[in-house]
Amino acid sequence: MPAATPCGRGAAALTRVEVRAQVRPLACVILAAGQGVRMRSELPKPLHEVCGRPMIDHVLGTVEGLAAERTIVVVGAGAEQLVAAAGERATACEQPEQLGTGHAAMCARPGLEGFAGDVLVTYADIPLVTPETLRRLIDHHRAEGAAATILTTELDDPSGYGRIVRDQGAVVGIVEQRDASDEQRAIREINTGIYVFDAAALAGALDRLTPDNDQGEYYLTDAIAILVADGRPVRALVGDDPDEVMGINTRVQLAQAERIARDRIREELMLAGVTLIDPPSTFIDAGIVVGPDTVIGPGCQLLGETTVGGGCEIRSGVVLRSATIGDGVLLRDHTAIDGSTVLGGAQVGPFALVRGGSVVGRGCRMGSSAEANRARLGDGSSMQHFSYLGDATVGRDCNIGAGVVTCNYDGYDKHQTVIEDNVFIGSDTILIAPVTIGAGAYTAAGSVITEDVPAGALGMGRARQTNIEGWVERRRREPEGRDET
Ligand code: UD1
Ligand code: CA
Repeated sequence: MPAATPCGRGAAALTRVEVRAQVRPLACVILAAGQGVRMRSELPKPLHEVCGRPMIDHVLGTVEGLAAERTIVVVGAGAEQLVAAAGERATACEQPEQLGTGHAAMCARPGLEGFAGDVLVTYADIPLVTPETLRRLIDHHRAEGAAATILTTELDDPSGYGRIVRDQGAVVGIVEQRDASDEQRAIREINTGIYVFDAAALAGALDRLTPDNDQGEYYLTDAIAILVADGRPVRALVGDDPDEVMGINTRVQLAQAERIARDRIREELMLAGVTLIDPPSTFIDAGIVVGPDTVIGPGCQLLGETTVGGGCEIRSGVVLRSATIGDGVLLRDHTAIDGSTVLGGAQVGPFALVRGGSVVGRGCRMGSSAEANRARLGDGSSMQHFSYLGDATVGRDCNIGAGVVTCNYDGYDKHQTVIEDNVFIGSDTILIAPVTIGAGAYTAAGSVITEDVPAGALGMGRARQTNIEGWVERRRREPEGRDET
């Protein structure tokens, strides 16, 4: 927060949120060191994906919205991959041995050194929580002047979660399912695994954790009873959306989270002006931007780092994987765009494949079963049917006939084909790369072009046709005379 300058905004002009942030600093600690045994996977649990993004990425993205002074990720299993996934967004602290969530929180200490303020602690396996909910939790904690505040919720089926134990309405502790009595297991209010602690209170409580429970682990949840016993104010905020705080321990829960997150994404896009003809069959990864008045047909998948402009028509079964689609583009049925760009007003498909960083220019036409791979198609060019352009650069307003193929690979290396502006490549032309077709040139249909064609020339590379008069009649009379030509 920059200091107010004489000509800038004075303290009075600060928003309430800014004032609050100035009053007490915030740190976020994300516990992500566990094995995730219940996933039965080689991949560390926080790296399992929900809507195309690792869970840890969702959590980091969410806490980013809180503008915390520090963000710490506690890593252990698969530390290297987690550190890479976190990038610049967090400081990593290592938990060398996975001795429980309390122990993991102790391992965050180096990252919290010298910090005074509030510490939001959350787990890497709660991917759906929103910044608004976290903000509400922090606000509640601050308004209550609490030493610790737990985000809880009530579930019809609380199994697997820690239960919130209350005495005359006040929180007195959290008991894990496996350590709970039958009576406690009947409690429907659960610990979401998201808390705000006063930093000093947390540090003091962590010092006193013991591993005397069914798993022999240090439980972060025990910090609550310790603070209550000390007479410190401990509060709970009961969240009203259980979906948001679901913890992912198994692949069944991962699939449930995926469903919930996909619903959210679809709803957001529809509210932003995108028509989904059949929302349930439309799969859109997190973070994908689609412009208004775009219509997306049934069975489409928009994946990875994809962006789609406005006013597009994306018909059924289209797959966009890390694709950039301009405005007013028509993608006909079952077209796939993979790591490539289609510029405004272009029409592609049906059954076309654009991949390998290709660029389809403005107003281009690509027809059925056409494929572009590491190719650039200049504005207004057209390749309508059954053609393949690999390692090729095509200028503006060219026509690539049906069945044209660039032979870009000689068995050892890939070679470039360059087609300059206003070129007409006749149907079934085979272009043996490296080769250049000069501006305005033509190639004759069925040609095998092995040499450059100069600008304005007709390149013809095929046997001349001969018509043998009367051949059919002679053959009919002398069927054995087939060799006679
Ligand atoms: C935890 C809570 C439970 C709560 C539930 C909410 C405890 C003891 N229990 O149970 O009350 O209802 O979450 O989803 O906290 N981790 C580490 N190091 C470890 C162990 C775990 O970093 O040594 C991390 C994991 O990577 C994971 C998180 O802590 O992201 C939670 O661990 P997990 O084993 O999934 O706890 P739950 O059994 O779900
Ligand atoms: Ca969990």
